[in-house]
Amino acid sequence: MELDGKIAVITGGAGGIGLATARLFLEQGAAGVAVVDFNQSNLDAAQQALSDDRVIWIQADVSTTEGVQKYMKEVASTFGRLDVLFLNAGVEGVVRPMIDYPEDVFDQVMAVNVKGVWLGMKYGFPLLRQHGGGSVIITSSVAGLGGTPSVSAYVASKHATIGLMRTAALEGAPDQIRVNTIHPSPVDNRMMRSLEEGFAPGQGIAAKENFTKMIPLGRYASNEDIAQLALFLASDRSSFITGATYVVDGGMKA
Ligand SMILES: NC(=O)c1ccc[n+]([C@@H]2O[C@H](COP(=O)([O-])OP(=O)(O)OC[C@H]3O[C@@H](n4cnc5c(N)ncnc54)[C@H](O)[C@@H]3O)[C@@H](O)[C@H]2O)c1
Repeated sequence: MELDGKIAVITGGAGGIGLATARLFLEQGAAGVAVVDFNQSNLDAAQQALSDDRVIWIQADVSTTEGVQKYMKEVASTFGRLDVLFLNAGVEGVVRPMIDYPEDVFDQVMAVNVKGVWLGMKYGFPLLRQHGGGSVIITSSVAGLGGTPSVSAYVASKHATIGLMRTAALEGAPDQIRVNTIHPSPVDNRMMRSLEEGFAPGQGIAAKENFTKMIPLGRYASNEDIAQLALFLASDRSSFITGATYVVDGGMKA
């Protein structure tokens, strides 16, 4: 039991990676998991798929102060502590060259993927500090480590999370708060279906084949592959690891 007694928050928790991680954290003995998501129908489906009385389900928008204060307040009042903060909510935006990229979509991607992470730490650090620190895990992407044409907002936002992570790792260290980013390659879930369709409208399967060719291990990641890395960083096995970037990419960045 890697997470015996720990309390975790998972944002974007009703999505592919988030829900797989919630399930794994519970299997590994977490005493409580707050699944935070903006999308109520995703939350309803997740609640059907994972019924466990250690879970609280919170509808909140991570890109707003009200949303973040709402989920932190609920975690504090239900569990009284926080040990693991998995800042995982994210949106992909659209697939379009920069000259055609809609400004409102750019702003929305930055609001969720960057400001949402910043707000999570701004309001999460005080709670983590109260009981001797903990682990913050931020879902970046291989798109945080290099450019890809036509997804400028997503790429910029995922690079930005590394800057937030490095700053937060230094600010959190005196309180034993560890902060790391994880960088998945394409994961076999909704977000990649949307990006495949964006890159090759009507030819998603061909787009998937092209992406797969870039991955030396020859397949997309599963949600569970990513959850396993989150588990390691959440657990005390990684107690001396902070300020680091972790690829989970089948060799894509090698
Ligand atoms: N799927 C991939 O191939 C891939 C690869 C690398 C990184 N990532 C990152 O992994 C993270 C999880 O994505 P996923 O792959 O599980 O996709 P997903 O779309 O299944 O999950 C994302 C979840 O975030 C939620 N969300 C979106 N905006 C929100 C907001 N404002 N407030 C709260 N919740 C919000 C969505 O409702 C959704 O349930 C994201 O940060 C994504 O960028 C995904």
